Amino acid sequence: QKPGLELAVVSVPSYACQRHTPLLHHNITLTDALSILAENAELGENEGRGVAFRRAAALLKSLPQEVRGAEQLRGLPCLGEHSLRVIKEVLEDGVSHEVETTTHSEQFKAMKALTGIFGVGAKTADRWFKEGIHTPSDLQRSGHTLNRAQRAGLQYYDELNLPVTKSEAVAIGQIVERAVHAVLPGAEITLIGGFRRGKQTGHDVDFLITHPDEGREEGLMPKVVSWLEAQGFLLYQKTTGNSYLESKEGPARPASNMDRFERCFSIFRLSTDNEGREIQTGNGPRSWRAVRVDLVVSPYSQFPFALLGWTGSKLFERELRRWAVHEKAMTLSSHALYDRKRTLYLRASSEEEIFAHLGLEYIPPCDRNA
Ligand code: CTP
Ligand code: MN
Ligand code: MN
Ligand code: MN
Repeated sequence: QKPGLELAVVSVPSYACQRHTPLLHHNITLTDALSILAENAELGENEGRGVAFRRAAALLKSLPQEVRGAEQLRGLPCLGEHSLRVIKEVLEDGVSHEVETTTHSEQFKAMKALTGIFGVGAKTADRWFKEGIHTPSDLQRSGHTLNRAQRAGLQYYDELNLPVTKSEAVAIGQIVERAVHAVLPGAEITLIGGFRRGKQTGHDVDFLITHPDEGREEGLMPKVVSWLEAQGFLLYQKTTGNSYLESKEGPARPASNMDRFERCFSIFRLSTDNEGREIQTGNGPRSWRAVRVDLVVSPYSQFPFALLGWTGSKLFERELRRWAVHEKAMTLSSHALYDRKRTLYLRASSEEEIFAHLGLEYIPPCDRNA
């Protein structure tokens, strides 16, 4: 028996939320290639194609060993024709022609650079690209009118594209905790997003805030933001109120993955003195850096749903919702779980209970890196 042939025999479930997907896995070369194609599809606003590549990559991330030959892929789910072709090419030649062409294309490079500016999405970037704007410097020179988020994004471009380290995330957490406890003692702050999944770096830091006395959390965000602003911790912030109760759709919002919690998308000014690190800028070195921080507030009764919804990965979340709808006739959001057959909301006081309602084995955060 060839080494690894047993892979094809082991049956692998087809939804990412049925599998354990650790951060470190055995097929980086293949998943890197597929991720480039996924990214390119997303930048071209071809969501379906992007998801297909992401699902194929996620399948490979969940395998217990390295794939060395195409024959090992027989019987595995999630691998579409296009993804299989790319995988085979990489296995045989070490590289994929399509991936090489993509990474070297002017359009891909420009779209990546422009969407790398905080506040700039694929649509805007594409419009600018067609006007001949390929880099943040081109944009700066163009004299285009930018919104507040984009101006901040351009101003702190280099720093915001520097990975945020775990120790920086911890330092931000301490500031957030001071702010929240100053305005609402007893509130609970949880690190969510990639850092909760065990990542050592991130593109931002995400926090979920709640209070055991339901109702006490209402209107919390503006107070937290005022405190942070008064202490000079914020370079940028945009706060959105909770629109859950006013929304006509109810908690079951299958069409969108956007939730309606009170939230704040911000840029923190984090001192780098503790690490003895200096940030190089156009105006010389300085002892603080800009860090993207997302804050979300949830009522206590919705906390497990918010926690599950904001821990990610994005594909894992998408797969959970797809599983709920197609396999269980349920609608899952970051607010609630609705059983469409029994026409009732299913309560949960932990993530474990939500997995149980969904008929899924519990997958811990460190294994949600799909
Ligand atoms: N999320 C969300 N609604 C948004 C933005 C994010 O529900 N408007 C969720 C995403 O689905 C994800 C989590 O919040 O599960 C974290 O998102 P993000 O910070 O973008 O990604 P991370 O997984 O934390 O990765 P990174 O380390 O790059 O920040
Ligand atoms: Mn091809
Ligand atoms: Mn994050
Ligand atoms: Mn985030």
